[in-house]
Amino acid sequence: MRNLLEELKFSGGRSIPSRILHAPLEGIMSPEYCRAFMEFNLVRSWTTPFIRISNSLPRQSVLDRKIQQFRPLPIIVQLMGSDRSLLSKTASLLSGLEHVAGVELNCACPSPDVIRSGAGGAQLRNPDWIKDALTALRDACPDCGLGVKLRAGFSSHTEMDAILDKVVQCGTDWIVIHHRTVLEKYADVAGRNERLSKAREIVKESALFASGDLFSPADACSLAKSIGLDGLTPARGMMRNPWLIREIENLCAGRQDGSDDAHPLLLLIRIVQLAAEGGHKKPGSIVEFAKNLFPSSNLFRLMSASKSPKETIEIIENFERAPG
Ligand SMILES: Cc1cc2nc3c(=O)[nH]c(=O)nc-3n(C[C@H](O)[C@H](O)[C@H](O)COP(=O)(O)O)c2cc1C
Repeated sequence: MRNLLEELKFSGGRSIPSRILHAPLEGIMSPEYCRAFMEFNLVRSWTTPFIRISNSLPRQSVLDRKIQQFRPLPIIVQLMGSDRSLLSKTASLLSGLEHVAGVELNCACPSPDVIRSGAGGAQLRNPDWIKDALTALRDACPDCGLGVKLRAGFSSHTEMDAILDKVVQCGTDWIVIHHRTVLEKYADVAGRNERLSKAREIVKESALFASGDLFSPADACSLAKSIGLDGLTPARGMMRNPWLIREIENLCAGRQDGSDDAHPLLLLIRIVQLAAEGGHKKPGSIVEFAKNLFPSSNLFRLMSASKSPKETIEIIENFERAPG
């Protein structure tokens, strides 16, 4: 089995310290979420939610502000768009910013609004566009890591081979595959392992990361081992169990469960405190996080009805005493 705890070095010389990465979560990864996760030592690097590049080039200072919340860890910045020239110029600006380890092109997002705009998962219908975009991005930031996030296809997973055949020609440092197609969105689908195995047969040079349904350390480790994956990117699993990456790391390393310090309520309280300090009175992202953390309780409803951060913290503390 590949060592998922090893540093991953990119061709341009930059690197990330391990290969079990918190997948991007647009709308959840607020500044307070990121800060608290770093304080609790739950991640070793970040991949940002997508930055959408539509019809103008963002100023470098604007990009710098957008990634500030992820510092000081190494950052992979995810970009989404359909204008290759703008995407490349943005990547070039990003590569000059502190802590940026790499840039990832999002060709996976299934949101109807994104698909209508021709970006994200819509690009899977045109593998040549993906190839040209990745080639342009590589030229624009040669010293920066470069990756792409894909789904197995747009309407059928049988599209995957043709897509990967193009992508592997671009010399990306990594490829993330979410095994579902765009049309499958988040439906239960059979054949995750078969789809990932097929991808592994085609992807030989780039590091191959899996995305999708990584909820338990045992399943994640056995998936990585059986397929020979180079990395894992849990997303919703991190909202349900923020210690998931740590637990996967421990299992991979054959260490005893080191999660004795796992206190999700303390993490939640810290996120509320940080939001209040940052002047964000009642961010919806925290309620959404609480809903995932304690799905069968009414905690998130009580939190969303609360009038102040102080009251929210009291609600969480009471819940700690009598979870229900
Ligand atoms: C609320 C939410 C926001 C997401 N935002 C992004 C995003 O910005 N970029 C991205 O590549 N994937 C995004 N994803 C997809 C996840 O990163 C991941 O690929 C997907 O949820 C499957 O993995 P999972 O089963 O471990 O959740 C998002 C998913 C969710 C649920």
